[in-house]
Amino acid sequence: MGQTYQLTATAAFGLEGVTARELRTLGFADVKTENNRVAFTGDAAEIVRANLWLRTAERVYVVLKRYPARTFTELFDGAAAYPWEEWIGRDSAFIVNGKCVRSKLMSVRDCQSILKKAIADRLCRKYGVKWLPETAERYSVVFSVTDDEVTLMLDSSGEGLHKRGYRTLNVDAPLRETTAAALLLLAGYDGVRPLIDPFCGSGTIPIEAYFIATDRAPGLTRDFDCTAWKQVPEQVTEQVREQARNRYRPDASFSISGYDVDPQAIAVSLRHARAAGAERIRFRQGDVRDLRVSEKNGLFLCNPPYGERLEERAEVEKLYADMKKVFDRAEGWRRYVLTSDKNFERIFGRKADARRKLYNGMIECCFYQYFVNAPSGKENGGVQSGKEENGKSDSKQPLTGETAARGKEKQSGKSLVAAPRERFTRYHRTYRRGIMGCRERQRETGTKPESTAATGRPVTPRERA
Ligand SMILES: C[S@@+](CC[C@H](N)C(=O)[O-])C[C@H]1O[C@@H](n2cnc3c(N)ncnc32)[C@H](O)[C@@H]1O
Repeated sequence: MGQTYQLTATAAFGLEGVTARELRTLGFADVKTENNRVAFTGDAAEIVRANLWLRTAERVYVVLKRYPARTFTELFDGAAAYPWEEWIGRDSAFIVNGKCVRSKLMSVRDCQSILKKAIADRLCRKYGVKWLPETAERYSVVFSVTDDEVTLMLDSSGEGLHKRGYRTLNVDAPLRETTAAALLLLAGYDGVRPLIDPFCGSGTIPIEAYFIATDRAPGLTRDFDCTAWKQVPEQVTEQVREQARNRYRPDASFSISGYDVDPQAIAVSLRHARAAGAERIRFRQGDVRDLRVSEKNGLFLCNPPYGERLEERAEVEKLYADMKKVFDRAEGWRRYVLTSDKNFERIFGRKADARRKLYNGMIECCFYQYFVNAPSGKENGGVQSGKEENGKSDSKQPLTGETAARGKEKQSGKSLVAAPRERFTRYHRTYRRGIMGCRERQRETGTKPESTAATGRPVTPRERA
């Protein structure tokens, strides 16, 4: 292991917990959620690995320095004291961007030029030159001045991580790739159950599902700024990429389908799927009302039209009501719906088992989760066997269950399935306590959690007893 860096990953509002969970599952150290970011540590290889594997993060930063500053002089001096020459070469290009929040220094533009000057002055002095050509690899310096504390970071991702590279065409209101992946992880999707997105648009949800089902790193075919840095040797990047290529199982069995009433959307989905190497996803044109499923115990996961415009309201309300009839015909299928429609549950005719507030771009949405139609409370919780990752056992019970067990989003109103849902919540609370207990012990003792031989997941208190 080389030098250890302080790293931080950003995610869309409301999804930091999902990113933190991903980091832990991937085996990163010192994972901690703070101020809408997730802090962790790692060496050069880990910087590449985080960029390559995180499905829900927007960017990964290297944190260089934190210091207090209430004046421009303090801002300048703090930056000038940092050894930038350890990162930025004589010919490297570097840009400075950032934000100011609740601080004495609130002019982003002034902070930006002062920091650029502080860094440039120091580099000129160290390299014995009068000007910097900035013609080589890029270092993107990011600052935040929050509550009079400056944080200086380097953006290791370059382009946002949602840009996987497969989405080249646009449809109306596409979902971010990172958000689609987060919805799938929240739903506990692990490639085993059949999955249908009846409103697939440009195919984002099915394609992200394919990446999960085949254990394909979302960033496998793209570059990151850090791979050009001298601190990240080429052979390190190649090794991390090689490991990811070896994990990818394009021949894994799965059942993923995307439907859309618009033939143009299906054409776009097919094009994107081809670009992602995901030709085995079934994309078909069709109205959700005509959908029939032959498989059992699958997941509907979608973001249908929201009906933001007044003239679309009646149509969308009818669509949601019809959608429920279609979903009800599918035996044992859970439903997950992302919409901004505040009346969704009323129109859909049922209170959700769990809800989560999220943003789709700038639009405030809610992710409605229905675990019903499952044969038992245990099934409802979706407690599935963990998937092997790096040879370690990985307890991947769905976050939906975690959300429900936390009881944050109180279930209100009458439910048609009150009894199983209560059973599920009770079961899951116990199960969560078991998991948390295992993890705490693991952190304290540095040991692996106990696991059941059959599933590889940590044992529940009941099983241990
Ligand atoms: C919000 S967009 C989905 C975007 C998609 N998640 C993506 O990432 O590109 C909603 C989609 O629902 C489709 N749609 C609208 N009414 C439909 C219906 N009755 N049946 C099936 N699809 C429908 C629209 O054509 C549109 O592509």
